[in-house]
Amino acid sequence: MRRRTEGQEPSEEPVKAETKVVDQGQHTQPKSKRRHTYKSVLIITGKCLLFMLFVPPFINHAALQREELPLRPKDGQIVDVGSGQKMHLLCKGQGKPVVILDAPTGMSSDIWFQVQESIAPLTKVCTYDRMGLGFSERLKPDETTGAEKVWGMSTTGRMVDDLQRLLQAGGIAMPFILVGSELGALNGRFYSHVHDGQVSDLVLINPIPDDIFEEDQWKEYWYSELLPSLVLRQFSAATGLSRMLIIVGAIYPQIKGENISEEVIQRWKYLMSNPTHQSSVVDEHYFMNESAAQVRDITKFKPLSSKTSVSVITGDSFDQQMPEHLNQMVAKLQKKFLEESYPSANHIHIKGVDRRMIYKKPSAISQHLRKLVNQRQAKQQSE
Ligand SMILES: *[C@@H]1O[C@H](CO)[C@@H](O)[C@H](O)[C@H]1NC(C)=O
Ligand SMILES: *[C@@H]1O[C@H](CO)[C@@H](O)[C@H](O)[C@H]1NC(C)=O
Repeated sequence: MRRRTEGQEPSEEPVKAETKVVDQGQHTQPKSKRRHTYKSVLIITGKCLLFMLFVPPFINHAALQREELPLRPKDGQIVDVGSGQKMHLLCKGQGKPVVILDAPTGMSSDIWFQVQESIAPLTKVCTYDRMGLGFSERLKPDETTGAEKVWGMSTTGRMVDDLQRLLQAGGIAMPFILVGSELGALNGRFYSHVHDGQVSDLVLINPIPDDIFEEDQWKEYWYSELLPSLVLRQFSAATGLSRMLIIVGAIYPQIKGENISEEVIQRWKYLMSNPTHQSSVVDEHYFMNESAAQVRDITKFKPLSSKTSVSVITGDSFDQQMPEHLNQMVAKLQKKFLEESYPSANHIHIKGVDRRMIYKKPSAISQHLRKLVNQRQAKQQSE
C-alpha cells in the first residue's frame, strides 16, 4: 500500500547546543521596577490570551488552504455540475457496469477507500463527496441549484438532484449499480425510485428505517446526544482547537486498519479541522428526519422498477456504541420497512460488525459487489 516516507527520515543536521547567557545584574530589583514587572506580566498574559483566541483559527485557516490541493486524491476530478456548483468525483478502474458508492451520514468518500480499491480491477467504480463534505464545495449563500427550494438545503431530495447532475456531467454509463449506506442508502432509494431504469442494482448498507424519527427515544438520542457532539466538533474545528488536539494526539482517526493508506489518514486530519466539512456534517444529521420522510413519501408514490434488484447488508447491530434498546429499535423497524417496501430483497448479514463495517470488514462488502458486477457482466456478454 502507498505509504509516505517523508517525515520519517532522520534529520541530518546536528542539534546545536545553545549557550545560555545569564545576566547576573538583574537578580535584585527595586520596588518600582517590580510593580512595573507585574504590569508587563499582565500585558503579556493578556496578549497570550488574545493570541490563544485569535491566532489558532488563522493558522488553521491558512493550513487548510495550503493542504487542500496536495491532499485531494490524484485521480479525483472536480466536476462542474451546473450553476457554478463544483463536486468531487473519484473514479477508478474501467468497464461496465459502473458502481457508484454513496457514503454514510456525514462521511466523505474516503470511507470507501478499501472497497473501491478491491472493485477497481473488475470495473469502473466511483465515489463522490456530497455538497460541503470532503472536496465538494458548499453552495454560497447567494447561489442556488433550485432543488434546495423544493426539498430543503441538506436533505435527500437535494442530494439526489446533485448526484444526478454529477453523474450526467461525469459521463457515467447507465444503468449502474448504486450502493449507499445510512443517509447514502436513503439517497440510493430516492434515486432509484425517481430515475427509472438508471439503476440496475440497488445495495443498501445499514439503511435508516423511514419512520425511526417518529420514535421519541430515537429523536432524543439523535437530537440531544449525537447532534450536540457534532456541533461541538464543528466549533472545535472553527476555533482551530481540533488542529491543536490532533497535533498533541488527543484525537486520532477512527478509521483504522492495516490497509488504510497514510493519505487517507492525512485527509481525515484535514477534514477534522475543516469547519466547512464539519458544518455540513451537522446539517446532514440535523435534516435526517426530513430526508427519511421524503424517502418514505417517494417510495409510496412511485414504486421501484421491477428491473432493479435490491440487496441489503447489515451487521449484528446498527451501532455498537449506542444503547442496546436503540439497536433493537433500529433492527425491528428495518425489518418492517424492508418487508413492506422491498419484499424480494436479498438480505446479507455480516457477523461481528456494526455500521463501521465499511472499513472494518470491507472484504465482506466487496465480495457481494463483485458478485453483482460478475452477474451483470455475464448478462451483457450473453446478449
Ligand atoms: C490487507 O491487504 C492484504 C493484501 O492485499 C490482504 O491480504 C489483507 O487481507 C488485507 N487486510 C484487511 C484487514 O483487509
Ligand atoms: C424534523 O425535526 C425538526 C426539528 O425537531 C422539526 O421542526 C421538523 O418538523 C421535523 N420534520 C419532520 C418531517 O418530522
